[in-house]
Amino acid sequence: MTAGSNIVLVGFMGTGKSSVGRRLAAMLGMRFVDMDDAIEQRAGKPIPRIFAEDGEPHFRALERALVADLSRQSGLIIATGGGVVLNPDNIRDFSAGGLVVCLWANAGTILARVGHETHRPLLAGDDKMANVRGLMDARRKLYEAIPLRVDTDTLSVDQAAERVLRLYRARTDATPHPSIEK
Ligand code: S3P
Repeated sequence: MTAGSNIVLVGFMGTGKSSVGRRLAAMLGMRFVDMDDAIEQRAGKPIPRIFAEDGEPHFRALERALVADLSRQSGLIIATGGGVVLNPDNIRDFSAGGLVVCLWANAGTILARVGHETHRPLLAGDDKMANVRGLMDARRKLYEAIPLRVDTDTLSVDQAAERVLRLYRARTDATPHPSIEK
């Protein structure tokens, strides 16, 4: 791990990847990339339309291609989409060139943060709590497989960014550090 490495935030929808990533980028003077925004730019349409018109597999292919591109760059703070963990190649590529940190939050926190929003096709439907719980359960093992994790339930954006920064500095300084920041 070198100082120029990427910092990659993964985690379920609503765990704060974009807000924490933006804050981290400002703190470190690094460039911020929001993968969902970048995919929308490349596709020329918003994510709900990509899902509706082209299907989730097409979205995943766009996501995979973007991971491959970003992994070849350095000095980036990258906020991924929640499903990036579904393809092990994504985590392999990101881990090779940077620090991958999983942001976590429980289902109640997630719902409070994103329940009122409408731009997430996988959370569409009447019973949002059931959607969140179902997806979380299906993906739990994939998120848990990321060695570094920050639980954000009780943290502000600033505090979560500080925790990630601590993990990054611990890695770049090669000093001992806890792998789970509570
Ligand atoms: C998805 C999460 C979304 C977005 C897409 C699919 C997922 O990103 O990539 O709707 O599969 O969890 P956020 O995690 O930024 O909401």
